[in-house]
Amino acid sequence: MKQLTEANVLEALKVVKDPDLHRDIVALNFVRNVKIDGRNLSFDIELTTPACPVRDELKAQSERAIRSTIDVGEVNIEMTSNVTRHTNQQKEAVLPGVRNTIAVASGKGGVGKSTVAVNLAVALAKDGAKVGLVDADVYGPSIPLMMGLTGRPMVKNQRLQPMEKYGVKVMSIGFLVDPMQAVIWRGPMASGAVKQFMSDVDWGELDYLVFDLPPGTGDIQLTLVQTIPLTGAVIVTTPQDISLADARKGFVMFQKVNVPVFGIVENMSYYACTHCGHREEIFDNGGGKRAAEELAVPFLGEIPIFTSIRVGGDTGKPIVLDERYTAQGDIIQTIARNLAAQISIRNAQQEAAPAIDIQLMQ
Ligand SMILES: Nc1ncnc2c1ncn2[C@@H]1O[C@H](COP(=O)(O)OP(=O)(O)OP(=O)(O)O)[C@@H](O)[C@H]1O
Ligand SMILES: [Mg+2]
Repeated sequence: MKQLTEANVLEALKVVKDPDLHRDIVALNFVRNVKIDGRNLSFDIELTTPACPVRDELKAQSERAIRSTIDVGEVNIEMTSNVTRHTNQQKEAVLPGVRNTIAVASGKGGVGKSTVAVNLAVALAKDGAKVGLVDADVYGPSIPLMMGLTGRPMVKNQRLQPMEKYGVKVMSIGFLVDPMQAVIWRGPMASGAVKQFMSDVDWGELDYLVFDLPPGTGDIQLTLVQTIPLTGAVIVTTPQDISLADARKGFVMFQKVNVPVFGIVENMSYYACTHCGHREEIFDNGGGKRAAEELAVPFLGEIPIFTSIRVGGDTGKPIVLDERYTAQGDIIQTIARNLAAQISIRNAQQEAAPAIDIQLMQ
């Protein structure tokens, strides 16, 4: 057994690899504040997101790596995080305090985009991230209802203060005008409203700002994805072929504007009978995974059809917060972590290859 020294600790931790970034946690500079007190050791592991899917495994592996080579008493590992930033000139100009922006999109309506956007935002906040949510669907704002928010945002120092609930900052046209009024707006007014949701809203410091887009891939959606400086997008689809064809259209739209797709979420994947547990694949199954393979993007996960997901939306209590349905909540929490991991991967690639990024921006 080796002696307890900082050098030996760092040497031992080199066997612990981040499975997404493909490097060890010492090389990644994750190991911080190594403190040795007699036979006891403490240090921090600073991850690139608090919503890390392998947070617990990394902690356990680190302790094992130390104990197997070093003669040590107590080992105290604190898991911390510092979310990496997507750097882009356009984003720094309009959203300087926001580290990453994510669009939740779908090729067609009614696939559960807003439900997914709300639950992902709340799940990321639940893991400890600073999160905002923009209802960019100005023609059919559903975020106020799904977040259980009413009233009007305040104005402070000439800037709109986002509403806040469940640890998420929220802005929607639904807080500002009668929804019937927005229905007749033309495209430029719709994208103008979303522009104001970026420039005129006091978002402060955020790790993730999630945009719930209107359904489809028409002119309005294309204008929006050009207007919003996006780190990347999530495409929501149901499993059947007709919906998947739409998911592909969504993918092509983001490709056109050079926005990476972080992955596909398959919603309404199957119905699990609450009485007998039988799994009924109402809209077919596995299509999201096939589409992800075909488009060479990650598959982030599948969400079942579950009455309480709908009820959670209608009553403004997202399912990820409902203690009665932890199985369904955990499914969505895992998808949020998979998404956070994809964002970290993308930011690490950006850091490793700044020259390529500059070329893309020109
Ligand atoms: N997994 C699910 N299980 C049960 N109900 C769901 C699920 N996902 C979404 N829903 C319900 O389906 C309806 C449509 O969902 P949602 O409004 O999120 O879709 P959308 O894609 O945002 O629609 P739009 O295109 O109109 O914006 C809502 O009533 C919602 O509660
Ligand atoms: Mg919607």
